[in-house]
Amino acid sequence: MIYISPSLLAADFSRLGEEVDRIESAGANYLHLDIMDGNFVPNISFGPGVVASLRKKSMLIFDVHMMVFNPERYIDRFMKAGADIITVHYEAVKDPTALLRSMREREIRAGISVSPETPIENVIPLVDAGLCNMVLVMTVKPGFGGQKLIPETLDKVRKLRRYAERHGIELDIEVDGGISADNIAQCSSAGANVFVAGTAIFGSKKPNAVIKQMRLKAHDNPFMG
Ligand code: DX5
Ligand code: ZN
Repeated sequence: MIYISPSLLAADFSRLGEEVDRIESAGANYLHLDIMDGNFVPNISFGPGVVASLRKKSMLIFDVHMMVFNPERYIDRFMKAGADIITVHYEAVKDPTALLRSMREREIRAGISVSPETPIENVIPLVDAGLCNMVLVMTVKPGFGGQKLIPETLDKVRKLRRYAERHGIELDIEVDGGISADNIAQCSSAGANVFVAGTAIFGSKKPNAVIKQMRLKAHDNPFMG
């Protein structure tokens, strides 16, 4: 299943509600919410209050990407704010196994993310143990929207999808950073099925056309093994 997850980071923050409406009616599946603490990443974005306000306005699946050190401090708050999926960074957590296990107990869909410098092998044991529903492979250095996709990161997507297929593991693989209709085919054929796009979707006057084109290209370029 293909999911398109526009990143709110590229929206007009003076009109957040309208912006979310605009991409919801344009056919998005998820809303990607980038939480940045000015510590794990140099940038600061927004917190659970903004997520809770948007929750009242939108039916989209809220895909919360925590670029925060020790995210365990905030899981409950984001759950309460209406998160449907919470992804934490492998690099930001002391004990990923314990955290993912406790997220599973709280019945929140859990993701684990790897920054470009982190080998994909590091998260394989977590996937193997069935502790996460999704792996987010960062295709840029986390922290800012509008960057260019680093092609080598797609090798990690391919490796992970091969592993999951070989072991019969059902897994969502999300790619995030610099994704557009121009390169989504490379991402989907590498094995990704959840596509984050900030600039490409919120930055467009015709987000419905962009989403449609992205979906079509991902569909036409499935994982090649
Ligand atoms: C970057 C964020 C991304 C970002 C994507 O650290 O995790 O979600 O908003 O934005 P674009 O699509 O503009 O690269
Ligand atoms: Zn993100």
